[in-house]
Amino acid sequence: MDWITSRICDAATAAEMIQDGDILGLSGFTLAGYPKAVPSALAARAQKLHEQGQHFKVDLFSGASTGDSCDGALARAEAIGLRMPYQSNASLRKGINSGSIRYIDAHLGKMGYLVRTGAVPAPTVAIIEVSAILPDGRICLSTSGGNSVCYLDMAKKIILEWNTRLGESCMEIHDNALPELPPHARPLPIYSAGDRVGEDLVRIDTNKVIAIVKNDGYDEVTPFVEPDTISTNIGERILDFIRFEESRGRLPKGMAYQSGVGKVANAVLCAMANDDRLGKIDIFTEVIQEAVLPLLKKGKLGVASGTALTLSQAAQEEFVKNSADWKKHFVLRQQEVSNSPDVIRRLGVISMNTALEVDIFGNVNSSLVCGSSMMNGIGGAADFARHCALGFFLTPSVAKDGAISSIVPYVSHVDHTEHDTQIFVTEQGLADLRGLSAEDRARLIIKECAHPDFKEPLTDALEYGLKHAKGKHLPLALTKAFEMHNRYLETGKMLP
Ligand code: COA
Repeated sequence: MDWITSRICDAATAAEMIQDGDILGLSGFTLAGYPKAVPSALAARAQKLHEQGQHFKVDLFSGASTGDSCDGALARAEAIGLRMPYQSNASLRKGINSGSIRYIDAHLGKMGYLVRTGAVPAPTVAIIEVSAILPDGRICLSTSGGNSVCYLDMAKKIILEWNTRLGESCMEIHDNALPELPPHARPLPIYSAGDRVGEDLVRIDTNKVIAIVKNDGYDEVTPFVEPDTISTNIGERILDFIRFEESRGRLPKGMAYQSGVGKVANAVLCAMANDDRLGKIDIFTEVIQEAVLPLLKKGKLGVASGTALTLSQAAQEEFVKNSADWKKHFVLRQQEVSNSPDVIRRLGVISMNTALEVDIFGNVNSSLVCGSSMMNGIGGAADFARHCALGFFLTPSVAKDGAISSIVPYVSHVDHTEHDTQIFVTEQGLADLRGLSAEDRARLIIKECAHPDFKEPLTDALEYGLKHAKGKHLPLALTKAFEMHNRYLETGKMLP
């Protein structure tokens, strides 16, 4: 019997091979390419063991968020001890915010580096979804690159989930390379979004493979929703600004675009597809979202490079059907490369990420509601925001039907500091903060980005700071910094 046939088993059998305390290194990034059968079977096993009074928890490392059959099932089974580096699942979020699951929210571009250098422990078992397994010991990853090459290399044991639905659709899409480790690491020679520097297939140590489980599942991505008017408005403002910068000679043509996760980021790509003045573009991003497909179909996409192809079920089917024609437009990289600060800096990326809230001085919070409740995580936004040529943070000006202002006197948690942010955009307007002092930034953000209902309290907070703050460089009065947040926590509204 060849090595492949001898390892094939069902998901429950593979789940039996995982022990209490194991660290699982999962494939998967933003709901693309995660293992679908073994985690569900593991959740069922954990539940059974808990009923028998036995302790059973594993730590989960991944590329980024996985689907409900993975993150969700394991969280509901109370089988997760620690989760790192990103998630977006409601059940998992509940466990994190109730304090029963420990969560390390980390820069996605740095996770693999932390594992490869031993700063965090290596996974004991890698569970990786693949689209093809070759007899010579090479595999083809599925719809994401993530940290799979690192986990396959570092883990002592490997379980492969073979997604048979994908056929050959993912062959030739991947470009598997990892940056060299310091000191004296040589740069990756990526000079355009489409440059390839690695191998399409990954050679694995077949002696480490303890199980191969077949699945034919879809990535559990919610159906694509056409952008609402607020998101469309934000998208159009960004395009107008880019055109203005180009007309002034401040932005050379040919920069690649990065777009973050969420509905607002999707809307920007849709606005690009619908804008007849925009020529062909390249994308150098982390998550290739569904909104890239209209660009492709309109002939406006050069290459989209990322680490995940996150598509709704209908679009996944379309992709498999058309992959032979579409392949040349996509490159899936390991996340240490898709998010490489070095490459982002050299390509000159135009970066667009979404914030939960921004403050009048330029700091951004994209992860923690009222400073303590985890939404998803920082993701890879900082990998791009800090190193991009032009960086936008987007947010509707209000949340929760106007109860919350997304512009606040001071953010309740800082993901991106004032030093790493450049341009804020809401449906109200756009504030270019480059080259402005703290007070000037505050006045511009309030004028251009704040919702009319909140301009007065924000201006009051600034004026109070200018009068009472100990130092005038950053006119922030600590007593006023969180007045709006506190009022929201007490009354459900930021306004009196
Ligand atoms: N306070 C409290 N809740 C807020 C809020 C605020 N200031 N701003 C938004 N929200 C809530 C919304 O009401 C919504 O809640 P609901 O799901 O209960 O309706 C939720 O946050 C998501 O907001 P939404 O407007 O639907 O935005 P989105 O889908 O564009 O997602 C982020 C926004 C910030 C959550 C998302 O982009 C994210 O997780 N970003 C961090 C990671 C990242 O940037 N990755 C990309 C890197 S390449």
